[in-house]
Formats: sequence, structure tokens, C-alpha cells
Amino acid sequence: MSKGSIQVISCKAAVCWGEGEPLVIEEIQVEPPQASEVRVKMICAGLCHTDILCSKGYPLIIEFRSPNCVSSSISQALFPRILGHEGAGKITFSCSVVESVGEGVTELKEGDLIIPTFIGECKECENCCSGKTNLCEKYPTLYHGLMLDNSSRMSVRGQRLYHLFTCSTWSEYMVINVNYVVKIDPRVPPTHASMLSCAFSTGFGATWKETQVESGSSIAVFGLGAVGLGVVEGARIRGASKIIGIDLNEEKKEKGKVFGMTDFINPGGSDKSVAEAIKELTGGLGVDYSFECTGVASLINEGLEATALGRGVTIVIGVSHETIALVNINSLICGKTVKGSMFGGIKPQSDLQSIIDKCINEELHLDALVTHEIQLDEIGQAFELLKQSDCVKVVILI
Ligand SMILES: NC(=O)c1ccc[n+]([C@@H]2O[C@H](COP(=O)([O-])OP(=O)(O)OC[C@H]3O[C@@H](n4cnc5c(N)ncnc54)[C@H](O)[C@@H]3O)[C@@H](O)[C@H]2O)c1
Ligand SMILES: [Zn+2]
Ligand SMILES: [Zn+2]
Repeated sequence: MSKGSIQVISCKAAVCWGEGEPLVIEEIQVEPPQASEVRVKMICAGLCHTDILCSKGYPLIIEFRSPNCVSSSISQALFPRILGHEGAGKITFSCSVVESVGEGVTELKEGDLIIPTFIGECKECENCCSGKTNLCEKYPTLYHGLMLDNSSRMSVRGQRLYHLFTCSTWSEYMVINVNYVVKIDPRVPPTHASMLSCAFSTGFGATWKETQVESGSSIAVFGLGAVGLGVVEGARIRGASKIIGIDLNEEKKEKGKVFGMTDFINPGGSDKSVAEAIKELTGGLGVDYSFECTGVASLINEGLEATALGRGVTIVIGVSHETIALVNINSLICGKTVKGSMFGGIKPQSDLQSIIDKCINEELHLDALVTHEIQLDEIGQAFELLKQSDCVKVVILI
């Protein structure tokens, strides 16, 4: 460890100064890591749709619990902020406490390839032990834009910068608590590793951890971005026989097939409701599972209507500012379920390795997700690129 590595580092990062404002590349200061933290030199980062929501001020009002801020409430947008929660990087300096992390936390050392996760896993709290959820109470998603101790490790010209969730990946360097870090086998290309830190794993996990998509079952996926395509891939690997993709973008038809989609519906091209179109494709019964991966709140209800009576399950993944009423109470009474999901139900320490192994064994089509690569200096284009019809994942090379 070089002496310089424990100093404050000045580096380049993309700063979001306010709601909807263009990103600005600034020289920022990144503090040394404190107890149980590591400083990471980013190799690449991803753009997930949730970053766009955060650039618009999400989350505006939310309550959450963490060990140090029980039932905190956030009522204003967090700016200036460094966005980005997908990424891969190398540890440059780990403070001594890292060597004494509890059992089950991967041992980390300088030079390790890691990805950040936006949920931790203590393996001790009531939720971790319940076997029912991945929402760890000790290491929750940090919505307040700060580290676990309520402070930031990043600043610009003396002004505090907010983090995004547990990290901030659109920066040359970032600091993260080790409980939100997963070590990655160096055989995994960093661009692939980056996509495992949020979108793809979220979709993939939802077919395996939130539901147990069975061999021969039918599913409908609303939205074929990196999340939705992760659902398609997961369902194919689990043996689903009918995988219906729904997207307004016709170019997603060919993309979905690469991952195993069997049927495609473009809601823009028909007078029928999507639920009716899905029922037609499933002999009138509806699908076993539907997955909402657009963030268009009204599609939750469409997904609910498209599932089979008595057993259909709808998983809500897409994030939205909107609130909706699930209007058809009868559908719920007739045995259908709607369930929300964070990170596809994946526990970072217990479950992510299985996806990493599939990545090493080249069972996943991660190359087909990366449609655009840009340099950090070009990040101003990233949001516009995601609007292009041929875009799935923008990877930022750092
Ligand atoms: N719950 C979680 O843990 C979690 C994790 C990652 C992302 N997300 C959320 O999941 C959603 C998807 O993320 P992404 O990065 O894949 O987004 P994306 O923007 O890359 O993809 C969304 C897709 O939905 C399609 N779409 C939009 N409106 C539609 C409509 N009305 N009907 C049909 N298709 C429509 C778009 O054409 C696009 O292909 C976002 O809301 C994101 O915030 C949630
Ligand atoms: Zn994300
Ligand atoms: Zn826990």
C-alpha cells in the first residue's frame, strides 16, 4: 500500500448539480476509507434506468431504517450528487478493519475486482434469517445519499456530494462499505461484472428468488431493457416454454429472441389490451407469471389481468414516482398475487455467486446487452443514448 493511497484523492467524476440538469465532469475529492470501508478505482460503470429517476430527484419522500438512522425520512432531492450504482472496479486501499469483517463476508484486498451492491446481507437480522426476503435490516439500501454513518466521502470545492445508494460509480474513485461489496472472479470481464451489480441480476433473480419459474411454465415480461432481458434469460434457463416479451420498441423483438423470448407484443400495434393479447397467446388462461420491468405504474394492473386465475403471480420491479390503485379487487380475490421486488430477491453474499458462475461458464448473453460504450468525459450523452431504439445498456469506461 503506497503512502499516498491513504490521502484524500482528487479525481474526475460526473456531478449532477440539480434536478434534470446536465451532468458536469468536475474534479472532486474522495476521502480515505473509514472502518469497514474500501476505496475503489472504477474500471467501468453502467447506466440503469434508476439513475435517470435519481437525476430527476427520486426518491423524494421515503422512509427507511438503518442501524444509525432509524426511520429516517427524506423529503427533498439530494443534490449535488454523483450518480451510478452499477459498476466494477479494483480496491486500491482497504483499511485494517476490513481484515476483521465477520464470517461470510468475502475477504477483500488491494487489487481485488469488486462490484457494489445496493443491498447488503448480514446473515443475522430477522429478515436475513427469515428465508423470505433479501431486504437486510442491518445493511439496507441507503436512500439518504450518505454512508452508513450519515456522512459522505466525496466533495467538490469543499461542498458535500451525495452518494447514490451505497456507492457512486460515475467517478474515477469511490468509497464503499465492505458489506455492500461482492468480490468477482477476475475471469469475468469488468463490463459483464458491472451489469451483475443491478439491472441484469435483478431481472434474472426475479425468476429464481421471487418466483420459482418452473419448467414448462409461461411468463410475460413488460419492458425489454436490461432488467426485462434478465427476466427472459432467467426464465429460459429455468425451462419456461412460453416467454412473452412486451415492448413499445419494435427493435426489442430481435433482442428478446437472443435471450430466449418466444413471442413478442408491441402494445402500440394493436387495439386490444396487452392482457387480452397475452391471454390469446396462452389459450385464454393467462400466464403463470408476469414481470413489470418498465416503471409504468398502470402496467402492474395489466400484468395482474394477464396472469392465470387462482395462481398467477405478478412481480413488480419497475420503479416509479406514481402511485396506483390495483383496481380489480376480484382478480386478487380469485387467487392472484402481486409482489414487489428489490434486486430480484437476490442476497448478495448467498446468491450472486451462482450468477457469476454462469457468467464464467458463458451461459449468459451479457455481450448482447452492451450496445454502447462511452468514456467518462462523454457521459453527457448517456441519457440521450438510452432513448435510442437500438440501446439496451450504456457502459461508461473509466
Ligand atoms: N426493483 C429493482 O430492484 C430495480 C433494479 C433495477 C432497475 N429497476 C427499474 O426497472 C425498470 C427497468 O430498468 P431498465 O434499466 O431495464 O430500463 P430501460 O429503460 O433500459 O428499459 C425499459 C424498457 O421498457 C420499455 N417500455 C417503456 N414504456 C413501455 C410501455 N408503456 N409498454 C411497453 N414497454 C415499455 C422501453 O421501450 C424499454 O425497452 C426501471 O423502472 C428501473 O428503475 C428496478
Ligand atoms: Zn439499477
Ligand atoms: Zn441482515
